[in-house]
Amino acid sequence: MASAVGEGRKLAQAESRVISHPMAPRKRNRQLRPPRPVKRLPQALIIGVRKCGTRALLEMLYLHPMVQKASGEVHFFDRDENYALGLDWYRSKMPLSFKGQITIEKSPSYFVTPEVPERVRAMNSSVRLLLIVREPVTRAISDYTQLRSRATPSAPAHPAPPAGEAARPFEHLAITADGSINVAYRPIAISLYHSYLHRWLEVFPREQLLVVNGDRLIEDPVPQLRRIETFLGIEHKIGRRNFYFNETKGFYCLRNDTTDKCLRETKGRKHPRVDPAVVTKLRRFFVQHNQRFYELVGEDLGWPED
Ligand code: A3P
Repeated sequence: MASAVGEGRKLAQAESRVISHPMAPRKRNRQLRPPRPVKRLPQALIIGVRKCGTRALLEMLYLHPMVQKASGEVHFFDRDENYALGLDWYRSKMPLSFKGQITIEKSPSYFVTPEVPERVRAMNSSVRLLLIVREPVTRAISDYTQLRSRATPSAPAHPAPPAGEAARPFEHLAITADGSINVAYRPIAISLYHSYLHRWLEVFPREQLLVVNGDRLIEDPVPQLRRIETFLGIEHKIGRRNFYFNETKGFYCLRNDTTDKCLRETKGRKHPRVDPAVVTKLRRFFVQHNQRFYELVGEDLGWPED
């Protein structure tokens, strides 16, 4: 933003010089008016996957001066009641941005909601899509951890999992009584990435979607962000100086010229211990599904097979 603001300032000075000249034609005055920020529809979306680092990714990209972000999850494309309010309503939820800046919104449920790809295309068929994924079993456990925490009285505002589920161990929810994998259990179902991705690829060309490795983003954010900067067509501006490792949190925190910031305590929760035999069983189950995902994206993410 700094450069756009700086550019705006230069233009503002130029304009005041022109205005002070009595012969200055009116049209030129208008042309030299300083750029004003306006609300724009997003040119890029973080479509999911939930619990894979969607918030971290958005906050990290926001370190870039040419990126503006919608502050909350807008849920425009996945909730019929919001979608019915139309694009002007959606635009009103966007941040102010200067010309040339990229507006990004993230709502992780976009990825899994069937109507969303077509609706996104109807808004902008050349929108850039960012899909962040993690090793599917870790993601499922993270999802379980979140659902369980939401069922506690300290977080009453959030939707709670179905009655009784929260108190049950992950192992009992992920594996049925007959020993098969419970694909109806939401944290497992959402980790079947290929079953949602194919719909997006029926609507958007592959080049318009970037798959971000969420496990690598945790370990070393800068190389992932470089790839994303290239994908978004913006200069490489986010570097090592923008991060420091916080030993207490166990994650990288973010830094720019004015602030240091770690993500909230709901990001980077401690996961419960899960029986290693169950982890192995789940990983084996996911092998063929991961393979289908790799084929769709044309890339092997190397997730463990047991
Ligand atoms: P856990 O809380 O299970 O560790 P989302 O924002 O999509 O809900 O994803 C949350 C996940 O972001 C966290 O899951 C955490 O692992 C991951 N994450 C990635 N980078 C992070 C960071 N720098 N700080 C905190 N969490 C981060």
